[in-house]
Amino acid sequence: MANDPIITITGMSFSYALSDRPALDAIDLEIHRGEYVAVMGLNGAGKTTLGLCLNGIIPHMLMGQQTGTVRVDGHDPSIRVVREMARTVGIVFDNPEFQMSQVTAAEEVALGLENLGVPTVEMPDRIARALRLVGLDGFEDRAPMGLSGGQQQRLAIASVLVMRPSILFMDEPTSNLDPLGKDEIFEIAQRLNRDEGMTVIVAEHEVEVLAEYADRIIVMHQGRIALQGTPAEVLSQVSALSKLGLRSPQVTEFSQALSGPSGHLPITTDETLRWLKDRASRAPA
Ligand SMILES: Nc1ncnc2c1ncn2[C@@H]1O[C@H](COP(=O)(O)OP(=O)(O)OP(=O)(O)O)[C@@H](O)[C@H]1O
Ligand SMILES: [Mg+2]
Repeated sequence: MANDPIITITGMSFSYALSDRPALDAIDLEIHRGEYVAVMGLNGAGKTTLGLCLNGIIPHMLMGQQTGTVRVDGHDPSIRVVREMARTVGIVFDNPEFQMSQVTAAEEVALGLENLGVPTVEMPDRIARALRLVGLDGFEDRAPMGLSGGQQQRLAIASVLVMRPSILFMDEPTSNLDPLGKDEIFEIAQRLNRDEGMTVIVAEHEVEVLAEYADRIIVMHQGRIALQGTPAEVLSQVSALSKLGLRSPQVTEFSQALSGPSGHLPITTDETLRWLKDRASRAPA
């Protein structure tokens, strides 16, 4: 991974208007170009607010008090207009059906391009490529409302990809999807990260998914960054996570129950199988 920060947040706090406590409280954070970062935290921890500060919805469309600095791929979202910021950060939320407003998938994807003033002649190629990136090749004429939840979410991702952002922020993108739909979304995110070099940030509750895909996990708690590190570093801290109301992967909890808190604990099923074999081979005959 290039050691080149694409996002630099320094001493940033934000309180929503009329709220008596900050939603984000003195955040310092650097995210590198091409990194895949997962953001964990209980309801109200500040995950969504963090995303909205990156694309300029905060402070332009949601009022409040913001201090500190945010730089996103060379831009200050508090100065750049929100429409332009979409060229840099694409945000996808958890409820794809509310993000659909057009008669066809192509029109849905074209909306962002119209907002950016992209010439009409360039649109079909850009739309086709965005649909291809999410595995919806040839879906141009399909009705968004007739798609499955997973397909709708992929269409929502295509609608931001068409603006060619360097950063994709997905806010609990699979919370309304079935297991197959969830896997598809995470595979697309991984492909965009690995093959297209996109910086991917995902707010997510399912720790098993985080263990599998993320380069780094950030744990937020009451508007602050409580823990961060590689998935292995963060998810093996079973008791620290539990104090924050969060759980570790089931395989990690299982391994800890077997071995006690010391030593390296596995965080994925594959690692657990190796870990168990290793323990078995070292057990006295
Ligand atoms: N539009 C708003 N107006 C006022 N307060 C808000 C608004 N949105 C969020 N908050 C408050 O800001 C804090 C952070 O909320 P945020 O939605 O960022 O958390 P989150 O980690 O995304 O939670 P969730 O897991 O429920 O999505 C919470 O205390 C929340 O009540
Ligand atoms: Mg949220």
